Amino acid sequence: MFVEEIATHNSAESCWLIIDGKVYDLTDFLDEHPGGKKIILKHAGTDATAEFDKFHPRDTLNFLAPECCIGEVEDPENLPQTEEEEVVDDSTEEERVAEEARLDRIAHKPDLSKIINLYDFEAVARTTMDPNGFAYYSSGTEDEITLRENHNAFKRVYFNPRVLVDVTDVDQTTTMLGSPAATPLYISATAMGKIGHEDGELALARAAGTTGIIQMVPNLGLFGFDEIVDAAQPDQPLWFQLYVNRNKEIVKRIVRAAETRGVKALFVTVDAPHVGKREKDMRSKFLAGRSDSDDNGNHGDGDKKTSALIDTALTWKDVAWFRSITSMKIVLKGIQTVQDAVLAVQHHADGIVISNHGGRQLETVRAPIEVLADVNAYFKQHPEILAGKQFEMFIDGGVRRGSDVLKAICLGARGVGLGRALLYAMAGYGQEGVEKAVAILKDEIVMCMRLLGVTSLNQLDESYVDLAALKGGRGSSGGALFDNVYEPMGVVKFKARL
Ligand code: HEM
Ligand code: HEM
Ligand SMILES: Cc1cc2nc3c(=O)[nH]c(=O)nc-3n(C[C@H](O)[C@H](O)[C@H](O)COP(=O)(O)O)c2cc1C
Repeated sequence: MFVEEIATHNSAESCWLIIDGKVYDLTDFLDEHPGGKKIILKHAGTDATAEFDKFHPRDTLNFLAPECCIGEVEDPENLPQTEEEEVVDDSTEEERVAEEARLDRIAHKPDLSKIINLYDFEAVARTTMDPNGFAYYSSGTEDEITLRENHNAFKRVYFNPRVLVDVTDVDQTTTMLGSPAATPLYISATAMGKIGHEDGELALARAAGTTGIIQMVPNLGLFGFDEIVDAAQPDQPLWFQLYVNRNKEIVKRIVRAAETRGVKALFVTVDAPHVGKREKDMRSKFLAGRSDSDDNGNHGDGDKKTSALIDTALTWKDVAWFRSITSMKIVLKGIQTVQDAVLAVQHHADGIVISNHGGRQLETVRAPIEVLADVNAYFKQHPEILAGKQFEMFIDGGVRRGSDVLKAICLGARGVGLGRALLYAMAGYGQEGVEKAVAILKDEIVMCMRLLGVTSLNQLDESYVDLAALKGGRGSSGGALFDNVYEPMGVVKFKARL
């Protein structure tokens, strides 16, 4: 294919792009592109490699059906030399002042040694991160009731500590899905980690290695999957999070690639057949002029908020299909009811994550710790359901303290995932920040275990917690520190004077 011909396919009717010497027909993909079609159309008919590389690792191309790649450029010498786009500073006076203040805060950021809990990391991230990046991380759906409730609910679980137990040697190590872990924590998958720190998922992988915790690698990382695996130590256990593409051949390819690189478990995200309306994020995108969504400000194109990238037709039957294409453990991420927990067992999943995607999907759903309490009670009443099965339960959402982790363990969780808390630590202090965050949690866990009167995690059960306040107290506070670092959503802004 020749440059001259490719250049004629420069519209929504026929949209070809060159990426790394190959020609892609993205006509059908336009409406499905999560970053909107505007950006792709802007580069239609030309070499978009440089622009593509700014946002995506090369393996993003794996999301495309193979037939989208329609050939190679035969006369690369005829490609026009792309000039550096002139950057026009169209910021307002108010924005310039805010940016200067932010740079000043970065220069005076507290030393890592001064950070004593995970809220401190959040306080630093909130005031030093690029505001769009912070909006993307911190955003929850709509009124962010669930986002806050995820954390607040932990504070309504009270402990019943036992005393006069020899707690000289306390051991918080465990295994999760057969892999050893230094503590019952893991790094949950978060798309686009690089927004907060240039090393993104690589910093998380390295910190997981040095602290002995497991990382769930995201399907939509800003680094390529292989780069992330390469950043990990050779024997470091990794999990992989998957958004299920409508094209099953693509899914197979992605899953096989993960298995080949030694990934131990596949976490299939089941709570995102439609992306939640994350308004903080939307507002910041509008302000930054990056959004091309419709006038209602929807995340997506009017009614069409589904995409080939996420199969809306996924059902319980597909669990068996996953089993047929991989020997990795299969865990369903995003279970939110007792009924679905039971179905997961019946469909032979190896485990579930009770999660609401960190309050980024359906709004006003219950906190995972509350759902876990119900599921645990149900499984205890019906021991036949789990009899003879290796089934592990995890939860994620709102975890900030070692005590939060132990409450989940008391209620039957095998481990607990962290999303934002570690992203905030990474945003301010990179790999070292994540290491410090994990160290803080480990210290809190040891203290808490000693004070509860246990020396290993398997001694913990529901007798160590009191759930009387858990259900009655929805809408409670998550404590002054949490409330202080919470960034509330603002209302629409009037036009700025230029
Ligand atoms: C060729 C196949 C492509 C696929 C499969 C793809 C996939 C995606 C996905 C999944 C996202 C969501 C963000 C994330 O990674 O979490 C996204 C966002 C985005 N994509 Fe693409 N993309 C493709 C091509 C392109 C091209 C050619 C460009 C630029 C010319 C581009 C620019 C962007 C931008 C600007 C965003 C939004 C990022 C942000 O606002 O921070 N993409 N894309
Ligand atoms: C067509 C249906 C769409 C689907 C299925 C979809 C899906 C997704 C998914 C799965 C992510 C990864 C983020 C996460 O899980 O937290 C994402 C991110 C993103 N989407 Fe959408 N998206 C759609 C439409 C759009 C449209 C039309 C825009 C244009 C404004 C857009 C802008 C973005 C951007 C900028 C990101 C990057 C990070 C973020 O803001 O969450 N998406 N999208
Ligand atoms: C910025 C961000 C991006 C996320 N991206 C994904 C993703 O791509 N896939 C997924 O299954 N979950 C994703 N999640 C959800 C997390 O895996 C996890 O369920 C959630 O963050 C836990 O809540 P927490 O942030 O309160 O710890 C994301 C969460 C955040 C905050």
